[in-house]
Amino acid sequence: MYKLLRPLMFALDAETAHRATIALLKLRTGTAFASRPPSSQALECSLAGLRFPNPVGLAAGFDKDGEVPDAMLGLGFGFVEVGTLTPRPQTGNPKPRLFRLAEDDAVINRMGFNNCGQAEALERLGKRAGRAIAGVNGIVGVNIGANKDSVDRVADYAMGVRRMAPVADYLTVNISSPNTPGLRNLQAGGELDELLAAVREARVAGGPPVFLKVAPDLDPGDHRRIVRAAIDRGIDALIVANTTVSRPTLISAHRSETGGLSGRPLKSLALDQLRAFRAEAGGQLPLIAVGGIENSEDAWARILAGASLVQLYSALVYEGPGLARRIADGLAVKLRKACLSSIAEAVASE
Ligand code: FNR
Repeated sequence: MYKLLRPLMFALDAETAHRATIALLKLRTGTAFASRPPSSQALECSLAGLRFPNPVGLAAGFDKDGEVPDAMLGLGFGFVEVGTLTPRPQTGNPKPRLFRLAEDDAVINRMGFNNCGQAEALERLGKRAGRAIAGVNGIVGVNIGANKDSVDRVADYAMGVRRMAPVADYLTVNISSPNTPGLRNLQAGGELDELLAAVREARVAGGPPVFLKVAPDLDPGDHRRIVRAAIDRGIDALIVANTTVSRPTLISAHRSETGGLSGRPLKSLALDQLRAFRAEAGGQLPLIAVGGIENSEDAWARILAGASLVQLYSALVYEGPGLARRIADGLAVKLRKACLSSIAEAVASE
């Protein structure tokens, strides 16, 4: 079905196609909730006290405003991360700012955290019909960021934690977008510790777990430092990784656009980064893998390399809405072939 629809979608510019997709998914939202993500005892995962029906998640950036999380769960994702949401609404960078690199199965974006703002998303997510049975029908996380013109970025994150906690099964502190100037500096030593201390301060007892999303463009010493700071400040998991500002060899016309690169060319870098974090964390800090995952082989490779869960975005553009279900089914087959009874048994077993 998607094979027929894809040329129509690709005839539109990438951002228009994305808006059209969200509009179609909104039509589905009422009904999709009835269809649960694929699950089985073997596929079910636990992380930070949450129960995930399967380990395949939708990465942040697809549903920035939290408009269609239930429709996406209905397509088979075990969890959906909405956002990035900033305290105040933002229009983002001038268009065009989203580019398909079809010949490379990749995407470049410099969206710049365009979003409706936390207040509007809070109201929308608060009305979700499915919230009461989260965990059975899937998990919805909220990814938070800082406004571009903020004078106190640390305060923006603290505000996001306080505000969005009531509607989030988990929160993600995103300090790794390349499209907000200076944002990734928050990954540096002193700044990271100050930020994570403020995030911890903003958390309330019984509130949702907090994950930290990092960039794939790191130096060797960074992994140890980030893992230490995360563990010391009570971060529940690391998400590895965001888009890259590096440019492996690409052939598409848009290859020189400024922004973050995602999809197939990010795959090996994201896997290397996952392994580097696994080596430092040694099982003390759960890892969620994202970057270039396009099939169950990729998802399985990340799990074997240490990921408890995986996420994807770009491959949806090329593979269509059945992808999450196909990957989840593929993982169930791989577990059977390996004679394992749960994903947890496969994690970090390479
Ligand atoms: C993203 N990504 C992203 N990440 C994030 O934490 N906050 C965001 O707002 C966005 N926005 C965004 C927009 C677009 C158009 C893309 C393609 C990506 C990054 C995304 O969540 C993921 O980390 C990377 O895209 C790598 O995964 P894939 O796309 O290779 O599966």
